[in-house]
Amino acid sequence: MRINEIRLNNFRNYSSLKLRFDKRINVLIGDNAQGKTNLLEAISFLSTVRSFRIKDETDLIKKECDIARIEGMIQSSVGEKRLTVMIGHSGKSLLIHKNPVKRTSEFIGQCNAVLFTPADMDFFEAPPKVRRRMMDVELSKLSPVYMENLNQYAKVLKERNTYLKQDRPDIEYLEVLSDQLIALQIPIIESRREFIAFVTKRISTLFCEFMEEKFEIDIKYESESESHTDLALHLNQKMTASLKRDLALKITHVGIHRDDAKFALNGFDVSAFASQGQKRMLILALKMAILEFIVSKINTYPILLLDDVFSELDTKKKVKFAQLLPKDVQIMITTTEINEIKGWPASEIDVFLVNNGVITPYKEDYR
Ligand SMILES: Nc1ncnc2c1ncn2[C@@H]1O[C@H](COP(=O)(O)OP(=O)(O)OP(=O)(O)O)[C@@H](O)[C@H]1O
Ligand SMILES: [Mg+2]
Repeated sequence: MRINEIRLNNFRNYSSLKLRFDKRINVLIGDNAQGKTNLLEAISFLSTVRSFRIKDETDLIKKECDIARIEGMIQSSVGEKRLTVMIGHSGKSLLIHKNPVKRTSEFIGQCNAVLFTPADMDFFEAPPKVRRRMMDVELSKLSPVYMENLNQYAKVLKERNTYLKQDRPDIEYLEVLSDQLIALQIPIIESRREFIAFVTKRISTLFCEFMEEKFEIDIKYESESESHTDLALHLNQKMTASLKRDLALKITHVGIHRDDAKFALNGFDVSAFASQGQKRMLILALKMAILEFIVSKINTYPILLLDDVFSELDTKKKVKFAQLLPKDVQIMITTTEINEIKGWPASEIDVFLVNNGVITPYKEDYR
């Protein structure tokens, strides 16, 4: 999958941008605060219909403007699709070609991009919801059904929690809601299990190649479902056993909203054991494993967005990282320092200079 062209209007610090990507590797170079990350944010928004930086989407609209617009020409095996997102102060709209799309789940995944951002460095220390979100973002891009189930689950969960706060909740009605929650979470658990199993298989190899040393990496999918196969029965027992606690504390304790994925390096918890450099390489190995998972599902690589990936990597690792990037993947990479891409395959690279919301071809020889 490729993005052939992007157009931005009043998005962040871009008034009007039209940029074609003819080469496989696109390097965005510029000083701080010029709009490099903003461009990746726009591409990522086309992929996930959310910003990886902020919750309030009106922040994406250029100051003193009314509507931000992101338009991307996405090339896949079925041809080129024009995806458009318009963000206004009272909501957003999505279009494929020129047709409005009602359900976000229909839009997500039309452009599949995998992102590395420096904020990912907190991934292992972050609360479980960050690691759940990683699974959900990747799986939602691959399956509208997954996303619909997840949304429906969140709705029923909210209803159950609200109902638990009533004076005398009716037990039978609570059971109806519990049954709905169980039915909705079973396919989600199955998808998360499959995802973790795949990523676990690949991540050790990728990480060892980066580090040129032997390591064992394990990812444990922590879930109330444990490794049970009769999920309906097992979850039913768990929910029944938790009913008293749910009533006392007025909240639902059992379910996928509590899942986590725990990473261990040579048997030790990554958050407590790994060095900064190791964590960065582990995150990168994770992203690579995710690329492979996506290929296994949709037969094409997603677009890889790398924001400020080089800082903290020593020179040897930078070279190694470049060597290990899959050869068929389109890459957008930001940097402040042109030397960082020395030794990369020049014939496959376009370098763009980002300067205060304006992007021009980078003229200097950097090889
Ligand atoms: N809604 C907005 N309207 C106008 N300008 C904005 C808006 N949101 C962010 N900006 C501007 O965008 C710039 C930041 O862009 P971005 O985060 O892409 O920088 P960057 O090039 O990635 O820099 P760095 O190298 O520091 O990461 C800042 O100058 C900020 O003021
Ligand atoms: Mg940036």
